[in-house]
Amino acid sequence: MKLLKRFLAVILTVTIVCSSLVFAATASGNTLPDYTMTQAEWDAYWEAEKGDNTKIALTPGADITELNFNWHSEVKLEIPKVRISKNADMSDCTEFKGYATLAESGFQTNRVTVTGLEENTKYYYTYSLDKDNWSDPEFYRTLSDDAFKALLISDIQIGADDDGYGYANATAWNTLLNTALRNNDDTSFIISCGDQINSGESTEEWASVLLPEALRNMPMSTCIGNHDKKGYLYRHYVNNPNEYQSIIPNVFGNQYYYRYGDVLFVNFNSTSFNIFAAYNVAEKAIKENPDAKWRVAIFHHDVYGTGHHAADDDNYLLQGIFSSILDKFDFDLAFTGHEHYYGRSYNMKDNEIVPLDYTKNSVVDPDGTLYITTASASGRNRIYDEPFDHPWLNFEYMSQELIYSTVEFTDTTFRLETYTVEGDKLIDEYTITKTDTTYEEIDESENILSGTNAVGRVLKHFMGEYYVIIEVLVKVLMTALDALSLVA
Ligand SMILES: [Fe+2]
Repeated sequence: MKLLKRFLAVILTVTIVCSSLVFAATASGNTLPDYTMTQAEWDAYWEAEKGDNTKIALTPGADITELNFNWHSEVKLEIPKVRISKNADMSDCTEFKGYATLAESGFQTNRVTVTGLEENTKYYYTYSLDKDNWSDPEFYRTLSDDAFKALLISDIQIGADDDGYGYANATAWNTLLNTALRNNDDTSFIISCGDQINSGESTEEWASVLLPEALRNMPMSTCIGNHDKKGYLYRHYVNNPNEYQSIIPNVFGNQYYYRYGDVLFVNFNSTSFNIFAAYNVAEKAIKENPDAKWRVAIFHHDVYGTGHHAADDDNYLLQGIFSSILDKFDFDLAFTGHEHYYGRSYNMKDNEIVPLDYTKNSVVDPDGTLYITTASASGRNRIYDEPFDHPWLNFEYMSQELIYSTVEFTDTTFRLETYTVEGDKLIDEYTITKTDTTYEEIDESENILSGTNAVGRVLKHFMGEYYVIIEVLVKVLMTALDALSLVA
């Protein structure tokens, strides 16, 4: 009898615990499903869906109240539409109209922006297929943007390991994404630092980038990498907010920016050497967001990176350009990729290491910019015989393991964590705390061509000790100009 009572007590306890867990999940109602798949499930999904480049993609909107959609379809004379509702049966939905542009052969890109979204809310959306046909509803959830987490990855580079649909890279990408989201249910969106595909021109590769089911529910912000720039497809697969069009049109895609909570994200195109466009988009974004408490740059090239790319001549050119722009506009952070080898710099300013106590992986009110080089999100990580040990690196992790990072922001803190997919091993963590979240006014008297600017930094690198010639020439010129102004 005693045994029976004890057995019933255990059953009752287990039932209560399970019920309360289910209730907690249902009550919040805003959790992600577990997207992870067995190999057999993935292979079946792959065979059924590979090559379908019409899957819808979500991109962060201009802020948390907006969401951008884009999807491919055959060319047709119809206005693209998205309906959004708080109900799974799409009752009481609101309809948003967008626009279409001609994409690669026989296709068009449909783009719609949904506005008026509320925080901490589960939505359902459908998008127009043909005439009165609508897609099956998918969900999209908002969390709070007071404090939020994003998943940080790069170099999915589908097709790098096998041509065609890119099974090997797609499999690794799907595994990484699903594992990262299972372990970080509080992710609001994904940041990809470029090289989404390998060839730049394969619709099959883009289809594989967009294949993971999680991307029907989770926005991903992307930027242009050197592999994306091998073709013209990037611009057909994105719907980025606040695109910045410079005077010289860029046929590969535009820079853009968005705001999430207290954070301003500026996506640069580091495959372009149009330094004026990069300077201008930073200036415009910051002027429009004077109250942002964090400024984050996102671009492909690892200008303070980990491996051989960071030692290339073209990198020193980009390092001069981007370090001077990020110094000028007081960017706190730079998220980069390209090298497929994870690392984190010291805080850098004026192309030098900012003196700080770095021993605790936690700094307060640092000057300068922290540069993060992300690993490859499809397991394409580079292995060298010896680490490069670039002087600007505070931490590096050379491994072929699948690696992802999470970045968390509050109004006063930034928290970076980097994990392996297999084993869920924490390999890096770093925290920045701000006690003062204001920025100095932008100095309008200085521009990209003045002071310790991009040109000066680049010349200094390539001329070495002979740079003194430039410094002397500049001094002579300035003295002459002063003398002339006195005479005048
Ligand atoms: Fe790259």
